[in-house]
Amino acid sequence: MDLASLTGQLTALRDRALATIADAADLEGLDEAETAVLGRKQGELTAILRGIGALAPDDRPHVGAAANDVRVAVEAAVATRRTRLQAIGLEVRLAAERLDPTLPGRPFRRGSLHPIIETAREIERIFGQFGFVTYESPEVETEFLNFQALNIPSDHPARDLWDTIYVDAPAIGDERLLLRTHTSPGQIRVMRRGAPPIRALLPGRCFRYEAVDASHGFEFFQVEGLMVDEGTTLANLRGLLDEFAHAMFGPSRATRFRPGYYPFTEPSVAFDIECVVCDGVGCSACARTGWMTILGAGMVHPVVLRNGGLDPERFQGFAFGMGVDRIAMLRYGINDIRYFLENDLRFLEQL
Ligand code: PHE
Repeated sequence: MDLASLTGQLTALRDRALATIADAADLEGLDEAETAVLGRKQGELTAILRGIGALAPDDRPHVGAAANDVRVAVEAAVATRRTRLQAIGLEVRLAAERLDPTLPGRPFRRGSLHPIIETAREIERIFGQFGFVTYESPEVETEFLNFQALNIPSDHPARDLWDTIYVDAPAIGDERLLLRTHTSPGQIRVMRRGAPPIRALLPGRCFRYEAVDASHGFEFFQVEGLMVDEGTTLANLRGLLDEFAHAMFGPSRATRFRPGYYPFTEPSVAFDIECVVCDGVGCSACARTGWMTILGAGMVHPVVLRNGGLDPERFQGFAFGMGVDRIAMLRYGINDIRYFLENDLRFLEQL
């Protein structure tokens, strides 16, 4: 190998390498082109340098310098091409991920409250105007608060009014647990919380072991009301319920009290409104009576006041309890309570 042929090879290698590098289409191609020339084991430049040993000692520095020039030129070309390829890569990505901030956003599907909850809130709002404060009371209740404390003894036939689902769990002390059959145990809890004047509203879910049909669910909502003060009368109850009926079902809707029976109120009444379907004429919705019962109520029984820690000689009170499902059915004109619990959006979205 002589000086001239080695220098020629170097020039040829440089020209070829620079062309390949300039043409490299991507970063992998560029790396390959670089390794092909400068690679420590297989690189072409490395191979040429190995031939230097065969040259006359005077010639060696010339070839070394020329080889170095080639390496510097190749490295510079690789660096330039790398910067360019990276810029192209970025442009391609930016183009692919282009975002048009002027496009309108995709609409969110908006949720809304369940009609039962909305109705309960409307009831709370109306009574709230009369100073009634909303409390929560547990769904899993002691047998004592659900029954005995409300003047319903263990073996009393009045228990048949509430078909009860008991909880299969260890009793608390001597107390069996059950799913409350009504919101009335909340009366005792509120009375024990603090002294009158009391104006409490207790909305919540209740449970009964019922055969399910168009007007009965085993799970339903009630709102309980309780007012206790000195000198509270049945007339106060009537006036309040009239205001409620008019706010909920229209100012001209007639109302009436009928005698009723509950162990925890004395006297007890059923509160009726003029039928919302026929306006009192008589139709199938009101069994031709022209009236619909919307709640049960009465003056709090002295035994119940005492169980709430209050002196019945000093305090009187009234309580009422209404089925929110029933109020919602009348409000929205729904004839089957089961729609409320089936979670069919086609139904719920209409309300
Ligand atoms: N707790 C009764 C029921 O569920 C309703 C009621 C409440 C009646 C308060 C009178 C007073 O049937």
